[in-house]
Amino acid sequence: MDKITIFDTTLRDGEQSPGISLDIKEKVEIAEQLSRLGVDVIEAGFPIASQGDFDAVEAIAKAVSGPTICALSRTAFADVDRAAEAVRHAANSRIHVFIATSALHMEKKLRMTPDQVKAEAAAAVARARTYTDDVEFSPEDGSRSDPEFMCEVLQLAVDNGATTLNIPDTVGFGVPDEFARLIRFVADTVTGDYVISTHCHNDLGLAVANSMAGVMAGARQIECAINGLGERAGNAALEEVVMAINTRRDHFGVTTNINTTELARTSRMVSRLTGYSVQYNKAVVGRNAFAHESGIHQHGVLTERTTYEIMDPTAVGQEGSSIVLGKHSGRHAFRDTLEKMGISIQGDALNVAFQRFKELADRKVEVTEADLEAIAVEELGVSAIDRFTVEAITLQGGTQVAPWAKVVLSSEDGVVDAESNGDGMIDAVCKAIKEATGVNARLVDFNVSSVTSGVDALGDVVVHVELDGVKVAGRGVSTDVVEASGKAFLNAVNKLIRQSERGRQPRNLERGP
Ligand code: KIV
Ligand code: ZN
Repeated sequence: MDKITIFDTTLRDGEQSPGISLDIKEKVEIAEQLSRLGVDVIEAGFPIASQGDFDAVEAIAKAVSGPTICALSRTAFADVDRAAEAVRHAANSRIHVFIATSALHMEKKLRMTPDQVKAEAAAAVARARTYTDDVEFSPEDGSRSDPEFMCEVLQLAVDNGATTLNIPDTVGFGVPDEFARLIRFVADTVTGDYVISTHCHNDLGLAVANSMAGVMAGARQIECAINGLGERAGNAALEEVVMAINTRRDHFGVTTNINTTELARTSRMVSRLTGYSVQYNKAVVGRNAFAHESGIHQHGVLTERTTYEIMDPTAVGQEGSSIVLGKHSGRHAFRDTLEKMGISIQGDALNVAFQRFKELADRKVEVTEADLEAIAVEELGVSAIDRFTVEAITLQGGTQVAPWAKVVLSSEDGVVDAESNGDGMIDAVCKAIKEATGVNARLVDFNVSSVTSGVDALGDVVVHVELDGVKVAGRGVSTDVVEASGKAFLNAVNKLIRQSERGRQPRNLERGP
C-alpha cells in the first residue's frame, strides 16, 4: 500500500491566518507535538518574511527531530539563501520554492511574462538544489493556471532538481473531479522522478475533498494544517485527511505514518496557542464529534457503538463516546446515565423521573449531572447536600510573591482550613482544598469563559477532576477567576465524596457538571 507523505503547514500557511502570531517557544512546542504526531514534513515558516520567522525556523530545525524541516521561499536568490540558512541544522531539510503561474497572478501581481516566470522557477530550483537534495516546487494559483503552461514550468522545475511538485489550489477554486483531472494531467505530462503533492484551500469548503480527489488521481503528498488553519478559510484539515485515509482505506488504498491517537491532543494544543477555538461539530476533533443527543442514536450507540460511529473516539485521542442528555434523549440514555452515576431507578419512579427530565430538557439546552441528581433526590430521597462549602478564600501572589492560598471550609463537623503554595494561584487554591477536605483529587482539565463582558465579567470555570480513575466535573462562577476555580474544584470534590459515600462509580460526564 502506498504511503502518503503528510506535509504539515500549520506553522507557515496556518500561521498566516488573520490574528495568529506565535512566538518562537510556541512554534517549537507545536513542532515537537507534530513530530510526536508523526508528520513527515513540517513547513516551519517563511524565513525571508521577518527575523522572527527566520529564528523560529532555525530553532525548529535545531530542536525537532524526526520530520523533515521545510522552509518556504520565493524565487529570488536572497529568499532561497535565507531559507537554506534557516534549515541548515535540520537532519533532513527541504526548501519549498514557489512562483505564480496563472495569467492573472503573472500579469497583475508579478508583472512578469510567462518566459520570465519559467526562468525564475528554473533558476531558483537549481539554486535550492545546491543546498539540499530535497526541493519542492509550487506553481502558485495552479488550479487557475493554464495547465499546459503550468506543466512547462513544472518540467523545468524537475529538470533543475525539484523532487516534489506541489499543485496549489491557492484560492480554493477547484472542485474534486476537476482537481483530480489536473493532477492526472501533471502526472501524464511532466516526465522525471518526482512526487505530486496537493495544497488545497478551503474557500468553498472543498479543501479535504479536493485533496482526497488528488490522492485518487495519484498525488502522494498532502499539504494540510491542524484544525484546517490557513489563509482565509484555511487549508485542508490534517486530522480529516488522515482519518479519511484510515477509515476508508478500502476506498483510497493508501496509508500514512500518523499516530492518530495524538490528533485530539495536537488539535487542543494548536487551538490553545493560536487562540482559534475548534468548532463543536468539527470532524474528528470537535467536542461533539462523538457526542449523541437524540434518543434513537443514543439507544443505538449504547447497544452497539458502531451503529452511529464510524471511528473509535479513542483512536483519535478523544476520551470516548458521550451521551448528552437533552430534549431529544430517550429513556434508555436517561436510565443508563443514572446507572452510571450509581442511581438505580425502576418502574413507576423511572417513568415519573423521566417525565420530569423531559420537562426540564424542554427548558434547558443541556441537562447536567447536577440536574439529574436533583431529580433523583426528589424521586428517591437521595442526599445531594455538599459536604463542604466555602467560607473564605485568601490569596497571595504576583510577580514578587510566591503563589499562596488559604481556604476555610465549613462542614457538618465544623470548620476546617488549610493553606498551600502552588505553581500558580489556581494550583495553590486547589492544593489547599485537597488538604482541607482530605480528597487527593487530580485536576485533569480546566476551562474558563466569561459570562458577561467588561472588566467586571463573571468568570465561569469548569474543571474535570479525577480520583482513582473516576472523573467528575465541577463548576464555579465568580468575578475572580481564582475564586471561581476554587469553587469549581470544591464542587467536583463534593461530588466525589457523595459518590464514594454511596459506594458507586460516577459516570464520566464529558460536558459540564
Ligand atoms: O496557497 C498557496 O499557493 C501557497 C503556496 C506558497 C504553496 O501557500
Ligand atoms: Zn496556501
